[in-house]
Order: sequence, then structure tokens, then C-alpha cells
Amino acid sequence: MIEPSSPPIPNPGPAVPRLRRTLVLVGLMGAGKSSVGKRLATLLSVPFTDSDAEIAAAAGMSIPEIFATLGEPAFRDGERRVIARLLNERPGVLATGGGAFIEPRTRAEIKRRATSVWLRADLDLLWDRVRDRPGRPLLQAPDARAVLEDLSRRRSPVYAEADVIVDSRRGASHEAMARAIVAAVADWDSARAAGRPSLELP
Ligand code: S3P
Repeated sequence: MIEPSSPPIPNPGPAVPRLRRTLVLVGLMGAGKSSVGKRLATLLSVPFTDSDAEIAAAAGMSIPEIFATLGEPAFRDGERRVIARLLNERPGVLATGGGAFIEPRTRAEIKRRATSVWLRADLDLLWDRVRDRPGRPLLQAPDARAVLEDLSRRRSPVYAEADVIVDSRRGASHEAMARAIVAAVADWDSARAAGRPSLELP
């Protein structure tokens, strides 16, 4: 005899906000967009994507190979198209390459369709994180720290156009950073008089 299946036992788990708009992490190389982004996506139970990984997969080449063979303008064009495609998917966490938000068309698309979060970090912290990691074509320079400093100076006013700013602190765990982002986005939602909120609190 087949037993009637018992009703599922409800398991609500810890209360997590429901994500309504994709959270796009922006900021300089080394800010922790990918590592913190993965943790944030797990926390919110949503998909995580990394625009650099998607561009590399679409091109069948690594990021340095794309820069070397096709050039930076082709990379930026691919980056814009990949990000536009990813913003069509269901809400999730999207980590972008450091230059994506600097491109006016890419920035406009992110501003229109997602909630942007600048992971802000000081130069010493960024440098400590990128100095021994190859694979960033813009830092293949005799004085890579000076390049990073120059990018930071020129790009910071643009990153500051993000909806939400969260400081990346030395020694803060990915978990702590992910929770700080959720809190900052919730604050931003509640400060806005109108508009669809990014997070729906349980
Ligand atoms: C870039 C940052 C890189 C990558 C490419 C260009 C930039 O991504 O997109 O090397 O212009 O700052 P990360 O910020 O993930 O290192």
C-alpha cells in the first residue's frame, strides 16, 4: 500500500530579506566585489554573477588575452553588452570589473535597472590585495601602485554616483561586509520616498 505523503514540514530558516532589484557591486580592483558579492548572494539566497567571468566565457579568452588581442575598447563594449544581458535576469548579485561603472552607457544601464553599491576602500588596502595578483592588464606597468592611485583619484567621483556606499574595512570578514551591504541598502530603500525597493523585509 502506498502511504499518503505527509505534508512538508515548514522550515522558514532565518528571516532574510527578499531581493527585488539586482545589487551591482562597483569599485576599484581589490575592493572585494567578487569575494564579498558571493557571500552576499548566499546570504540573500540569490544567484551570483561576475561580469569579468561572463565576458571571458563569452569571448573564450582570459581578460588579459582580450585586452592584448582585441584592445580595451572592445573589452568595454563586451562588458556593456554582458552587463545589459545580466540585468535582464532575475534579481541577484552582480560583481562588475572596476571600469564598468565608469563607462557612461554601462553606468546609465546599471542606474536604471539595478541598485548600485560602491565598495569603497583606501589605496593601501587595495594595493595590498592586488600587488601580488597577476591578471589585471591595467596594472601591468612599471609603477602599478601609481596607476592604481591615479585610477582611484579619477574614478572615485564617478563611483560616488552609486546609490549606496559601503566602506571596505581591513580585517572585516566577507560575512560582515555582506551584512553591512544589506543594512546600507535597507537604509537607502527606506530613505527613498517612492520607487520599488531593492529589498523586501520579511
Ligand atoms: C578593470 C578591472 C578588472 C577587469 C579589467 C579592467 C578596470 O576587474 O575588468 O582588468 O578597468 O578597473 P576587477 O575590478 O574585478 O579586478
